[in-house]
Parts: sequence; structure tokens; C-alpha cells
Amino acid sequence: MTETRTDNRSRHESGRITRVLLDEERLHARVRELGAEIARDYAGRDPVVVCLLKGGIYFTVDLTRAIDLPVTLEFVRARSYVGTDSTGRVELAWIDGLDIAGRHVLLVEDIVDTGLTLIEIWHALEARSPASLALCALLYKEKLLAHPFPIRYIGFAIEDVFVVGYGLDYDERFRNLPHIAVFQPDGPSA
Ligand code: XMP
Ligand code: MG
Repeated sequence: MTETRTDNRSRHESGRITRVLLDEERLHARVRELGAEIARDYAGRDPVVVCLLKGGIYFTVDLTRAIDLPVTLEFVRARSYVGTDSTGRVELAWIDGLDIAGRHVLLVEDIVDTGLTLIEIWHALEARSPASLALCALLYKEKLLAHPFPIRYIGFAIEDVFVVGYGLDYDERFRNLPHIAVFQPDGPSA
């Protein structure tokens, strides 16, 4: 089933999916573990989960259902990538009305790559005076970060490849794949 879906949707006009990195089963097992860990750490509290859109949507939906606590769900939109290249600029939207003063905030991200997006949103959230602020990232690229930052919960540390699926896109494609796959753009190195 998974293979058929990969085959049917693996091509894009400027590249293709080369392999599955994390299948649905591994993803869901790890998400359940993270949810249980977060529920233990935040026991007796009612955290605000801030989902970073669009990439964090599938992860957040599954993760919050695995956290056996009353949670409030909020969304912020960030954009830093065009194709597979960082634009070096991060735009945040929908953060103005976010009321998190005095609340325990857990930011949920799809992936920390250079860390630039994280730095932007971290400062924007901190400026709203939460009682505490922590980050949960599904994926973390094991390379030197331009801006190292504490990540309390990490789903998987991965190699430095461009990945799609389970929320992650290439030019808005592939977000709805149920697994995480490696995308190889066409070009001299393909
Ligand atoms: P930075 O570099 O700011 O990147 O940590 C964070 C955001 O960039 C996107 N990103 C990716 N998207 N495959 C993707 O589909 C990747 O391998 C990848 N690396 C970074 C993503 O939106 C993330 O929140
Ligand atoms: Mg993207």
C-alpha cells in the first residue's frame, strides 16, 4: 500500500523521491513515545501547543492526540524555504493575536535545519511572556547549525538530505505522504 502510494506520487517536474527514510509505523511509534514523555513532563498543567505551519500540521495532529492532558492548540505560520534552498529570510504570520502570557508553551516544528526559523519564532514567542517555552521538533538535521538552540524533544536526528512527506513539502507537493522520504532535485548532482 505504502509502496504504491510512493510510486504514484514520487515524481515532480524538477526531481523525484529516491527512498523512504521513516515509514509510517516508525513515525507513529515515536510520536506516541513523545506524547507520553510530554504528558509526564507537563503533568498537572495545561500547556499551549503552538503548531508551526504548514510543515508541522500532521505531526501536531498526531502528537497532541498522544498527549493525555488538556491542551490548547494554536497555529503560527512561518515561511523560509523556496524549493530546497533556504531564502535566508523567515516570515511569520498569525502571531499578532497569540495570547500566551503566563502559559506553558510547547512549540511544535516539523524540522530544524539551519535553525533560522526557530530563532525567529522563539524570540517572537518569548516576547509574549509565556511561563515557560520548549521546543518539540520531529526531525533534526545532524549538521552544524547556524544558530544552535535548545530542543527539548526530538523525534529523529537525520542526515543532511532534503525530505518530504508527513507535512514536509517540495514546492507545496508531497505533504500528504504518510511517511518521510528523501527528495532528490534534478540537476548536475542528481
Ligand atoms: P531552518 O533552516 O530555518 O528550516 O531550520 C526550517 C524550515 O525549513 C523547511 N525545511 C525543509 N522542508 N524538507 C522540507 O520539506 C527539508 O529537508 C527541509 N529542511 C528545512 C521546513 O519548513 C522547516 O520548518
Ligand atoms: Mg517547505
